[in-house]
Amino acid sequence: MCGIIGYNGFQDPKGILLDGLKRLEYRGYDSAGIAIIENGKVLVFRSEGRILQLESKLTSKVFKSTLGIGHTRWATHGAPTENNAHPHQVGKITIVHNGIIENYIEHKIALEKENCVFTTDTDSEVLAHLFDRALMSGDSLKEATVKILPTLKGSYAFVVISEEQPDQMIGVSNGAPLVIGTATDENYLASDIQAILHRTQKIIYLKDGQIAVCNKTGVELFSKNGVPEKVEIKTIQWTPDQMEKSGYRHYMLKEIHEQSRAIANTISGNIDTEIGIIQIPELNDFTEKLKNIDRISIVACGTARHAGLVGKYYFEKFANIATDVDFGSEFRYRQPVLEKNSFTLLISQSGETADTLAGLKESKAQSVPTLAICNVRESSLARESDIVLYTNAGPEIGVASTKAFTTQLTLLYMLAVQLGQLRGVISEEYAKELTRDLMHLPILVDRTLLLETQLEKIAQNFQDNPFFFYMGRDNQYPIALEGALKLKEISYAHAEGYPAGELKHGPIALIDRHAAVIVLATQDLPPKTKNAPPCFGENIIYQKVLSNLQQVKARGGQILSVGTEEDSLFSKESKYFIGLPKASWALNPILTSIPMQLLAYHIALLRGTDVDKPRNLAKSVTVE
Ligand code: G6P
Repeated sequence: MCGIIGYNGFQDPKGILLDGLKRLEYRGYDSAGIAIIENGKVLVFRSEGRILQLESKLTSKVFKSTLGIGHTRWATHGAPTENNAHPHQVGKITIVHNGIIENYIEHKIALEKENCVFTTDTDSEVLAHLFDRALMSGDSLKEATVKILPTLKGSYAFVVISEEQPDQMIGVSNGAPLVIGTATDENYLASDIQAILHRTQKIIYLKDGQIAVCNKTGVELFSKNGVPEKVEIKTIQWTPDQMEKSGYRHYMLKEIHEQSRAIANTISGNIDTEIGIIQIPELNDFTEKLKNIDRISIVACGTARHAGLVGKYYFEKFANIATDVDFGSEFRYRQPVLEKNSFTLLISQSGETADTLAGLKESKAQSVPTLAICNVRESSLARESDIVLYTNAGPEIGVASTKAFTTQLTLLYMLAVQLGQLRGVISEEYAKELTRDLMHLPILVDRTLLLETQLEKIAQNFQDNPFFFYMGRDNQYPIALEGALKLKEISYAHAEGYPAGELKHGPIALIDRHAAVIVLATQDLPPKTKNAPPCFGENIIYQKVLSNLQQVKARGGQILSVGTEEDSLFSKESKYFIGLPKASWALNPILTSIPMQLLAYHIALLRGTDVDKPRNLAKSVTVE
């Protein structure tokens, strides 16, 4: 959470910082600020609310400066007021900080004993005081950093500048991301490449505990003990135009419509085209180990966890592997008993979610191998996992995850099919059929996206409903959870997702004529391969969901069924019906996700919320 930016070069930093902050706003947006060094003095400007409010304060200001830092905040310690907004300044020191200094109270008590006066409620302010004291004792900025780092607990990144060395900025990353962008005679520091990629594609990723000293003409890296380290510059493939809205009203809508391409890019390179079977190259060195595993523990948060829940159905049915799915925040503290002969699968779009990273750590502590499904290259999760499979979704900027989710499902499908074949659960013939089905998926996704106009009309009818209930069974149950989450996140409507069979155990009490009930009721195309495992293609679940729909109907709920085209049963029994293209059991959850996203988007639009930056949320949650 929180976005950090820094610039040290030859241009006026004001515009660069504000533009960078707008691009980082998805990380937090309750207050913002910048600090600029002019004639050796640091000038700080802060504001409550969005970057636009800060920008309006700075409209008439012209600076003679070439160095500055900025911050957009998602409050953890202290209310989102101007006073608690970053940058924080003490004496000649100014800092911006992301993450949490867990032992800040200890530091604060000690500093107060030395007569330091605290003026904010943040944990970050201790950093500014610690640097100020170190500088007073004669340390350079770098020496002070080396001295202070071992005294800090928690996960954090920060950038510090000083009036004593007005041509330098120092960045530190420790469990929270920080990247350096480098160009001729100018260098940038940022929480995420999105803030700077349109300025330079030459990026250095700071490793945990690393210190970056950024001067105008160069960057030096040091270990936390101050020992020089090698600078490795990477050229990033994501292009700046992928970060723009390209004519769409919101990033979320753009990202929904990018899904067929994102899925095709995720599939690409993972199929052995000679035999026509899924073959993920990253698994090549691990096949013997994977063949014999007894369990998969999936750890993820939010939407990524919902992908993990679908993954459980895939792994159990395709590969016959017992699978658990945990919230990162639960897994990390419940002392999970991990089987030696298992692996932990961590799923994360950003690869920076603190609770998911804690799952990785726990797994490593128990010597259990880790496999990550991740979208952001070089993220902490990608760097630290034993195997990384990338969803090639491209940058996802809307806070509500869409294309990252469907590409995660795509990878999980591929992983499960490959494991199933390795373990002899799936025959070669069936693996070929599942591969052919998958290759057809982008077309099915494009056809599903054509249903948007119908969903827009349904959204108009649903926009004022006080309560939404989503239900599905089997691998559609996680999609019910995801549909409800999407709606909650961006429209602020109360929504619940449930397994349809559980309806009678409580939630049915909520159903009356005001309830909007979304029923996931696809019919699965049966496999063509003879002797494919019997559970596939049978429509027992479909019949059960139909009974659940009747229970809702009898109590007056307004039903939208999301089913398969040409389904006369569900369309007759429901007030509204959305018919998806025919697809197999495993692909249907990917297709049903799309109407869930579009319905949430259009309801939110009608309710007038800030779709890309919903209140209180942030895209990348790097704190506990
Ligand atoms: C936040 C976002 C969600 C996301 C979750 C996990 O809560 O708002 O959209 O699903 O984090 O993020 P990750 O980057 O780990 O997938």
